[in-house]
Amino acid sequence: MEINFSLGFPKQVKIIEVGPRDGLQNEINIIHSNIKIAFINQLAETGLKEIEVTSFVSPKWIPQLSDHLEVFKTINKNPNIHYSVLIPNLLGLENALSVDIKNIAVIATPSELFSQKNTNCSVSQNLKRIEAILALAKRHKIRVRAYISCVFDCPYEGKIHAKKVLSLGQALLSLGCDEISLGDTIGTGTPLKVHSLLNILLPHIHPNKIAVHFHDTYGQALVNIYAALQHGIAIFDSSAAGLGGCPYAKGAAGNVATEDVIYLLNGMKIETGVNLTKIAAAGSFIMKALNRTSLSKTHLAYQTSE
Ligand code: HMG
Ligand code: MG
Repeated sequence: MEINFSLGFPKQVKIIEVGPRDGLQNEINIIHSNIKIAFINQLAETGLKEIEVTSFVSPKWIPQLSDHLEVFKTINKNPNIHYSVLIPNLLGLENALSVDIKNIAVIATPSELFSQKNTNCSVSQNLKRIEAILALAKRHKIRVRAYISCVFDCPYEGKIHAKKVLSLGQALLSLGCDEISLGDTIGTGTPLKVHSLLNILLPHIHPNKIAVHFHDTYGQALVNIYAALQHGIAIFDSSAAGLGGCPYAKGAAGNVATEDVIYLLNGMKIETGVNLTKIAAAGSFIMKALNRTSLSKTHLAYQTSE
């Protein structure tokens, strides 16, 4: 008898690959633009529908991604893929408009201290920045997703109350953001925390407006994804080979590895459109270039079976 594991779960999900941005922003050494470009081009061959390729942030704050213009200009553009970029302020968007971007991500958080550390302004000042970004973005028909960082815990303030996440999420959507991505920036989430947060959010926000973005500090990201799937969440951020972290969030480890997420979803017969062998190859490529070992268990299993 064949068991339908997808009963009660979404049949199809979207994976947003954030490795080139969330991953490479956190590398100590500056990586040559050609390596980033080759990595993104390889990711684009895997069946991914959205890749966050870089950040138009201040080069003083994130020197690792100061080649954003060159990277965005040079990568191959597959018309079936959304190539998004992270934007912290109006200047970032104005710079990005010179290379005709169509998808951006803005950054928000309910934590006052994290807001100061990461964006040098308060939560409400940051919302004003996002309002200005949205006004310009909408004139250019740009799709805007909004990250909400520290949805469970903040490295500086500790526990964050779910009601604060809800009111920020509602504010971002009513300002005109198309989607919110719930960031477990320091990876302290567990399935119980995921259930509690989604139980607060989902009576007010439709699940198709919510993505989850789990860092894997304590090895909980995959079970947290499973918990989110149980609530009908169908958009997952992940990084090839488990790259990732935030230089302004002490303790932020890599994102959940795209390979591990695809392995899980394949096993649940949930469609992703992403080819596991090709994503593992893209992970191998970047880890070799960084002279590092992959953080993905699936990836390591693939390498040893090669
Ligand atoms: P600031 O220093 O307050 O900015 O930084 P400012 O407006 O005072 O400007 C200072 C200088 O920076 C000026 O240059 C500006 O022109 C320049 P100067 O006159 O001194 O030569 N500047 C810029 N240059 C290029 N592009 C820009 C830009 N803006 C200003 N966009 C700012 C404020 C928001 C810019 C800064 O704090 C910043 O860039 N923060 C971003 C930090 C960051 O990227 N963190 C990591 C991403 S968030 C994350 O990883 C979490 C996430 O993954 C989700 C999760 O895991 O939870 C998304
Ligand atoms: Mg992140």
